[in-house]
Order: sequence, then C-alpha cells, then structure tokens
Amino acid sequence: MLVAGNWKMNLDLAAARQLTAGLVSSIGKPEKTLVAICPPFVDLDATYSILHGSGIRMGAQNMHESDSGAYTGEVSASMLRAVGCHYVILGHSERREYFGETNEIVSRKAIQAHRHRLVPIVCVGESLAQRDADRQNAVVEEQVRQSLDGLTVSQGSELVLAYEPVWAIGTGRTASPEQVESMHTHIRSLLVELFGQKTGYAIDILYGGSVKPGNASELFARSNVDGGLIGGAALNAEDFASIVKSAELAA
Ligand code: 13P
Repeated sequence: MLVAGNWKMNLDLAAARQLTAGLVSSIGKPEKTLVAICPPFVDLDATYSILHGSGIRMGAQNMHESDSGAYTGEVSASMLRAVGCHYVILGHSERREYFGETNEIVSRKAIQAHRHRLVPIVCVGESLAQRDADRQNAVVEEQVRQSLDGLTVSQGSELVLAYEPVWAIGTGRTASPEQVESMHTHIRSLLVELFGQKTGYAIDILYGGSVKPGNASELFARSNVDGGLIGGAALNAEDFASIVKSAELAA
C-alpha cells in the first residue's frame, strides 16, 4: 500500500512546515504502508529537512524531461533528487488539461525520472464525457500504453500508476468501489502485458479522486487498489493520517 498526498498549488513555506511537522507526529512509521507527500517545488527543501528520518517520503508534482538548459521556469530530475525527492508525479490530469502535457511527454519524463532514480507516479484517467460515452477503458488503455512507452521491465519495477477519473477530482464525487476495482483490474492486465507477470503484479495502482477518511477503507479493500493519491484531504494532518490508517488496516 502507498498513500501519497498531492498538495497541488497550496501552502506557502510556513504552512508547509506546519503541516509536515503535524504529519510526522501523527503518522509515525506505519508498518505496512508507504507514505509520501508532494509539496510545491519551493517547499521541498524545507519539507525534507522535517521529513528526514521519518516514515514519510517526499515527491514532486512535475519535472522537465531535460537534464538542464534554457527552460525558464522548469525544474530537472537531478534537482529534485538533490532536495530529497523519492517520487515525482507525472501526467496529472491538471497538467494534461491546463499545460498541454501529452502521453508522449509523460513517457519521456518517466524515462528521465528513472535515469535519476526518481520513482514516477504516472497518472491516467478519463473525463466525464468519456465516461458518459462508456469509453473509459479505451481512453485509459491508450494513456497507459503511450505514457509508459519505452520503459524497460526493470524500470517498470520502480513505477507507480495512479487512476484518477477527472470527474472525481476535487468534486466530492468519488468513483464507486466497483468502478474503481473494474478500472484497476483493467490497468493490472495492461501492466502484466507490458512488464510481465512478476513486475506487472508488483506495481502499485493508486486511486485518486475525492478520497476522504470516510471512503478510504471501502476503496482500499478492493482488489488491485494498492493505495491512494490524495488531493484536498492531504492538506489536513488529521484527515491524511486517518487515510493512512485505513491503508494500514487494508494491507
Ligand atoms: P482530490 O482528492 O482533491 O479530489 O484530488 C485528487 C487528486 O487530483 C490527487 O492527485
């Protein structure tokens, strides 16, 4: 099980420090669950100094695909490693929708992340219109295949997938446990096809989209649901700690 918090564009330095300190004391070192938080870039260094030695890892929310260079406003994989990142979220639907990120870009970023020993959390998920047209399986299949294109089997063993239906993100409208299990099973079969039985079954598939303390347990109980990518509820120490506890009980 892995529970990761995506803070998105929230919390300045002081607020990031405060939340991180609260999480370290309330979460401790879970036995069976990996925990990560993904603050904004400018909060990473300070966050890591509080997290260091705790049971919580750190990730970034995005990165550029190049080593360095004239890319104003961008951040590289090696910079993220240097401030203590273990994970990097790639291809979040907000990046796909507002910043034109394509599957091809996500795949180049995933390969670059591996070159710098960052574990990519690759996000996929259909829009409401695609779900209403019953096209979710085909849409997600194309995202999985193209976003992971070029990754080797050994890179696949250091990879996390996150299924986040766009219509469930920040809307309070969670996908039903049945919808989540059905999509995760579909994604699992694709991962087995792409990376083989052993690696394909070992990859954590997270669900994201309005996960809260009140619905985490029923989602985590489903097969092929290996944890969650949490947005709004990750901004509250008590709520996030409660979701981690649900993962511990489900593990
Ligand atoms: P919410 O939990 O706020 O719906 O956000 C989910 C998400 O986008 C995590 O990456």
